[in-house]
Amino acid sequence: MLTKKKFYVTTAIDYTNASPHIGHAYEKIAADVQARWHKQLGKDVFLLTGTDEHGIKVQRAAEAKKISPKKFTDSLAKEFKEAWKSLNIDFNRFIRTTDSDHEAAVKKLIKKVYDSGDIYKGTYEGLYCVGCERFLTEKDLVNKECPWHKKKPEHIKEESYFFKLSKYQKPLLAYYKKNPDFISPQKRKSEILNRIKNGLKDLSITRITFDWGIPFPYNKKHITYVWFDALPNYITALGWPQGKNFKKYWPADIHHIGVDILWFHTVIWPAILMSAGIKLPKKVYVHGWLTVNGQKISKSLGNVISPKVLVDKYGADTIRYFVLRDIPFGEDGDFSEKSLIQRHNSELANDLGNLLSRSLSLIEKSSGKIPKGIPNKNLKKSFEVALKKSSEKIETLEFHHAIDAIWTFINAVNKYIDDKKPWTLTGKELDNILYNLAESLRLISALTWAFIPESAEEIAKQLGIKVPSLEKIKYAQIKPGIKIKKGKILFKKLEFKELKKETQEKTKEKTKEKTKEKIQMVDFKEFQRLDLRVGKITSVESVKDADKLYKFQVDLGSLGKRQVIAGIRPYYKESDLKGKKAIFLTNLKPAKIRGLESEAMILVAEEKGKASLILPEKDMPLGSKIF
Ligand code: ME8
Ligand code: MG
Repeated sequence: MLTKKKFYVTTAIDYTNASPHIGHAYEKIAADVQARWHKQLGKDVFLLTGTDEHGIKVQRAAEAKKISPKKFTDSLAKEFKEAWKSLNIDFNRFIRTTDSDHEAAVKKLIKKVYDSGDIYKGTYEGLYCVGCERFLTEKDLVNKECPWHKKKPEHIKEESYFFKLSKYQKPLLAYYKKNPDFISPQKRKSEILNRIKNGLKDLSITRITFDWGIPFPYNKKHITYVWFDALPNYITALGWPQGKNFKKYWPADIHHIGVDILWFHTVIWPAILMSAGIKLPKKVYVHGWLTVNGQKISKSLGNVISPKVLVDKYGADTIRYFVLRDIPFGEDGDFSEKSLIQRHNSELANDLGNLLSRSLSLIEKSSGKIPKGIPNKNLKKSFEVALKKSSEKIETLEFHHAIDAIWTFINAVNKYIDDKKPWTLTGKELDNILYNLAESLRLISALTWAFIPESAEEIAKQLGIKVPSLEKIKYAQIKPGIKIKKGKILFKKLEFKELKKETQEKTKEKTKEKTKEKIQMVDFKEFQRLDLRVGKITSVESVKDADKLYKFQVDLGSLGKRQVIAGIRPYYKESDLKGKKAIFLTNLKPAKIRGLESEAMILVAEEKGKASLILPEKDMPLGSKIF
C-alpha cells in the first residue's frame, strides 16, 4: 500500500498572560487553511497549536490577579482553545507547555544538548524585556526602550547556564544557503543574515529569581528559560524522541510565526536542533502584523476584541475569509470591520450565497433532482484554471490570490446563469444548465472548504453530497439523480454601524468579569480636539422646577463669559460654588437644557453619591488651557 505524504504545520504557541486577539487568530487561521488544503490533496496532515505558559511574564500576570500561575493559565489556555474551536481551527493537538509529557521531553532535550558539550555555567549580566521574554543588547533598543513593548528593559545579573549559540553561526549560515526558502518571505532573511554575520553570543538559558517554569535538570536552583521550554513544543507535541508521530511528521513542513519572534525560530531553534542532532524544520514563514480598525492591538488601549465575540457576530467563515482575502499574506494589514462587512456582503453573500440560492431554486422548481446534462466547456476550463492557480498560490502562501482564483470561477458561474437565462428555458436546454450549475457548486464546495469550511459543507449538504476531495477532482463527476435540499441562506447581509457597536458592547460584557471597568480609548488627536479651560463661576442660580440643576455664569478669560447649566445641585450649595475656579469643556456643541442654553460643561468627578469639582490652583489665570 502506498503511504500518504505527510504535512506538518505549526503555529506559535501563545502566551497565557492575556486573552486571545485577532492577531493570534490570524496566524491560526492561515495555518488551518493550509492544513485543510493539504488534507484535501490527500495528505496526512498534523496541525499543532497551543499555549506558552511558563516564564516571568505569565507569573507576574497571575500575581497581578492574585491567583496561582497554574489556575491562571488553566483558564487562559481554555479561552485560547475555545477561541480556536469557534473559528474551526482543526488542530490535531493543543499543546500546553505545562503538559507533563512536554515538561519531561524538554528535560530530555536539555540533556541531549548538555551531552553535546553545549551547556556551561556562568553569570548573565544585561538587559531583559519581560514582554518579549528576551535578552536585549543596547543595540536592540530604540530610545532606550524595547521597540516592541515600548518599555525600558530590566537589568539583571544572576548565575545562569548558557547555551553555546556562538558555535552555530557557521552551520546556520550554511543551512540558510542550502535552503534558500527556510526563512520566508525572502525580505525577512536579510535581517537575520545581517545580525548573524557579526557573530552570535551564547544564550542564557536558565533563571534563578522566580520559579514558574521547568526545573533545570542539572541544578534545582535554576528554572529553564521560557524560550528553551517553548520552542521544543514542536517536537514534544509529537512525542519526541520515541513517539510514532515524531517519526511520521518531523521535520515540520512549516512553522507559522509573527515577525517579533523571527530570531527565536530561525536562529535559536535551529541551533538547539543542530546541537541535539535533530533535523531542522523546512520553512519558517513570517506572516504580517495586524492592527484593528487602524490601531495597534493592545490591552492597554482597550481594543482587544475577543475572536469568539467576532465569531458570534460575523460567523467563523466570514472572519477566516476576510483576513486571508483582504491582507496579502506576509504583509502587514488592518482588521477593519467596515471592510469585513463590505467583503462579506459582496463576495460572500452576493457572489457565493446568491449563486447557491438561485441555482437551487431553479433545480427545485424543475424536478428537484440533479438532472443529466452536457458539460459546459467554458465552465470546465474556468474550473481547471481556478484549481491550478489556487493550488499554486496556496503553495506560495499567497492566500489572497488563491481566493481570487476561486472567486473568478464563482463569478464565471454567475455570468453563465446571467447569460443563459435558465428561467426562460425548459426541457433538455434547461437540464443542461441545471446540471452545470450543480456540478460547479460541487467544485466550489471543494475549492472553498479550506477557507470557509462551514459554508462549503452547507453547499455540499444542500446538493445532497459530501465535500469532494481535491485529489482527483475533475469537471463533470457529479451524479445525476441526487435530490437536492435547498436550505438556509449561506451569508446574511450585514449592516455596518449597528454591528460594530454591538461587537464592542459584547466584548465589553465578556471582559467585564476580568477587568472591572472597560475604558473607551481615544487617541491623542481626539483628545487634542477637546478645548478644556480654567474658568470661574461668577454667579449661581437654582433652575426652577429642576431640583438638580444650577445655572452658572462663568468667566473664561479670553473666551469671555458663558452660561452653563449643570446637574450638580445635589452635591453643592450655591454658596459652595460662587467664586470657585473649575475646569470647563468649552467646545461642546451648545445644548438646551430645560429651555436654557448651556455653552460649556463643567468637569466633575462622581462616584457613589459623592462629587468633586476639579479645582485648578488658585493663581491659574482664567482661560488657561488644559493639555
Ligand atoms: O510570542 N498581528 O507568544 P505571543 C499578527 N509565546 N500576529 C500577532 C500579533 C498581531 N498584532 N500579535 C501577536 C509568543 N501575534 C511566544 C511564541 S512559539 C514557540 C512561542 C503573533 O502570544 C506573534 O507574532 O506573544 C506570535 O507568532 C503569536 O501571535 C503569539 O504571540
Ligand atoms: Mg508577543
